[in-house]
Amino acid sequence: MLNDRKVSFSGIQPSGNLTIGNYLGALKNFPYYTENYKCFYCVVDMHAITVRQVPAELRRRTSETLALYIACGLDPDKNTLYVQSHVPAHAELAWILNCFTMFGELSRMTQFKDKSARHADNINAGLFTYPALMAADILLYQTDVVPIGADQKQHVELTRNIAERINQIYPDLFTVPEPIMPQAGAKIMSLADPTKKMSKSDENENAVVRILDDRDTIIRKFRRAVTDSDTCVRFAEGKDGINNLMTIYAAFTGKSMEEIEREFEGRGYGDFKLAVGETCADQLAPVQAEFKKLCADKAYLEAQMKKGADEAAYYARKTLSKVKKKLGFII
Ligand code: TRP
Repeated sequence: MLNDRKVSFSGIQPSGNLTIGNYLGALKNFPYYTENYKCFYCVVDMHAITVRQVPAELRRRTSETLALYIACGLDPDKNTLYVQSHVPAHAELAWILNCFTMFGELSRMTQFKDKSARHADNINAGLFTYPALMAADILLYQTDVVPIGADQKQHVELTRNIAERINQIYPDLFTVPEPIMPQAGAKIMSLADPTKKMSKSDENENAVVRILDDRDTIIRKFRRAVTDSDTCVRFAEGKDGINNLMTIYAAFTGKSMEEIEREFEGRGYGDFKLAVGETCADQLAPVQAEFKKLCADKAYLEAQMKKGADEAAYYARKTLSKVKKKLGFII
């Protein structure tokens, strides 16, 4: 809680071009919290450097991710939108939390296991302790809810464990946060291999639909999506491709699986894929237009970034001083 309002916090890494998985699992839902929560949405550039980045690209993507927040409907006057490295308290609290996070816990994180397999030549300590930095992001703002996609649930669970462990020693130091996942769209699968998560770093471009893909590209990618030899649009075990397309359609339209089955009764996969592609393109079009406009106005983006960082730093400093005092640091 901050000033009697519950707090929502989430973050997105400025690495790679974001996909509809990021959109449906996280971004699209962020604006729903604005009215009822004090909201912080952070571009987590410090997380991004756990894998090697090209500096100019990181810089560009950091501004673009902030622009995307706004383009997805987050009003910068009602939400605190900022860049992680602009608020040094994140790094300071991360160090402290590292000292309350166990080697065994970090070793069990699936994202660490995946990323260290993919970047076997660079299994650095930052990649390993990344969840402690994520816990710092969340705990700094006494966060109540963390809207995320399914892949981040394990990290929020770990954050809860760290907070509870510290609260046992220093009562009521941190709010213990809850992860919140969307009902439909928490996990979007690859269009080329629907048993795998849709990943922004997939080498096969046909496997991923990006938030900034143009209309024709979106429709073409959906047309090529891998399905099965059945012909009936129905959600069932073993129909991973169709299940995924139905999940995407449900997340964009708010329709239930039964409604979708009824809508496409007696129609083939071709019709269904076109409908998913068109719906996706229609919904992303206004986001893309707004994004383009924002990116052309560097001064505006910079001003928002600065305002967000000042706001975030104010709240972050409060928690950090409280933590330092409790731990026995002279402040
Ligand atoms: N780890 C998240 C991801 O890779 C990004 C992230 C960093 C985050 N800090 C966060 C998400 C805090 C929610 C809350 O997607």
